[in-house]
Amino acid sequence: MSVCTIKNITARVCYDSRGSQTIEAEVQVDGHVGRATAPTGASTGKHEAVGLVGGDARKTCKVLETYKKKLIGADASDAYELSKLLHKIDGTENFSRIGGSAAYAISIAAAEAAAKKRNIPLYALLSNGKNIALPYPLGNVFGGGKHAGEGSPDIQEFLACPKGAKNIADALMANVEVHREVRRIIEKRDPKFSGGKGDEGAWAYPVNNSQALEITYEAVSRVSHKLGLEVRLGLDVASSSMWDPKHKIYNYFRAGKKLTPEQQLEYVLELIDKYDLIYIEDPVHEEAFEEFSRITSEAKGCIVAGDDLFVTNTNRLRKGARLGAGNGVILKVNQVGTLGDALEFAKTARQNQYAVITSHRSGDSPDQHLAHIAVGTHSLMMKSGVVGGERVAKLNELIRINDSRLINEGEQVPMAKFVV
Ligand code: PGA
Ligand code: ZN
Repeated sequence: MSVCTIKNITARVCYDSRGSQTIEAEVQVDGHVGRATAPTGASTGKHEAVGLVGGDARKTCKVLETYKKKLIGADASDAYELSKLLHKIDGTENFSRIGGSAAYAISIAAAEAAAKKRNIPLYALLSNGKNIALPYPLGNVFGGGKHAGEGSPDIQEFLACPKGAKNIADALMANVEVHREVRRIIEKRDPKFSGGKGDEGAWAYPVNNSQALEITYEAVSRVSHKLGLEVRLGLDVASSSMWDPKHKIYNYFRAGKKLTPEQQLEYVLELIDKYDLIYIEDPVHEEAFEEFSRITSEAKGCIVAGDDLFVTNTNRLRKGARLGAGNGVILKVNQVGTLGDALEFAKTARQNQYAVITSHRSGDSPDQHLAHIAVGTHSLMMKSGVVGGERVAKLNELIRINDSRLINEGEQVPMAKFVV
């Protein structure tokens, strides 16, 4: 396999979908250029890597100028070695010196440049390109928590998953239909609905948690019936944002209720049952490994995924696997910093029978890499919004990947296999 030597790296300050400054890097490999923009989260786990150096994109670019010569000459096609090198240059536990955003942008841009040089798609560089399957889109259709305004529900995301779809075209269509249906249902309740959306393109409307559950459950049920394929509901509870460690209580500020850890557990199990949830993310806070494992063993047929719990960190995942905490992991490259670390995390997840759900961030860019990372890590799902340029860019890339693999007319790349 040809070596893909890094010849140069440049970086600039640019903007994410929230209008916040971030960093974009370009990596040159023998006449081929890869480019990546670092996304940013709003609902971040406390164990995530640092993003921008001192929270400042310009400073992050300046720091990059001081160490980039150490990366020149490295092999862009080896995500693991590049990751080691970035860690060595940084020298901290959490990328606080060079910034996880820089590590993200450099490692993904390098992989893209290497794939271009080898004339293969990025996902094939990350896996071997064989036996690929497409992830189910897990689409945010109704928003709350840190992604929408004060009047919205405490639960952060209400998600649609077209489990019954046989191909990516049907899967994407189903999620778009659910998104539309949610709007129709809201407009019936309130003809003056302004059509406001949260950070990820999900509808933002002032209702409480149970009303939002009723609306979205009705929407997935209607679309299932209309399209004749099973569409199920999922939630990202993002419980860490409600957890008050001092008083050991979950504080549903907007609903005005407080739940003990035991009541929280009962509440989420009740939701899984009542709304036939296919997916629940962060049902308890980011240190609650034990409660996570209780939910996992009691919630049959539901993917219980750790986002803030694992923060794409292989050591935290190993601990979770020992305790039986969760059966799904959220993979966000910028939580850990490098692509190599994220690939290692995905491998560990698969070895321990966890489903991988590759995820966007609420502040994202029109980059398409997420689709390739999802396919390359054999993800069961790709989590993103349903609408908005920066979300659709990733979804449309799944269609392109499907098209590029079609051998005979009408033949489709299979969807990933559900394990629960
Ligand atoms: P983010 O959150 O705002 O940190 O991207 C998304 C999530 O919690 O899944
Ligand atoms: Zn989450």
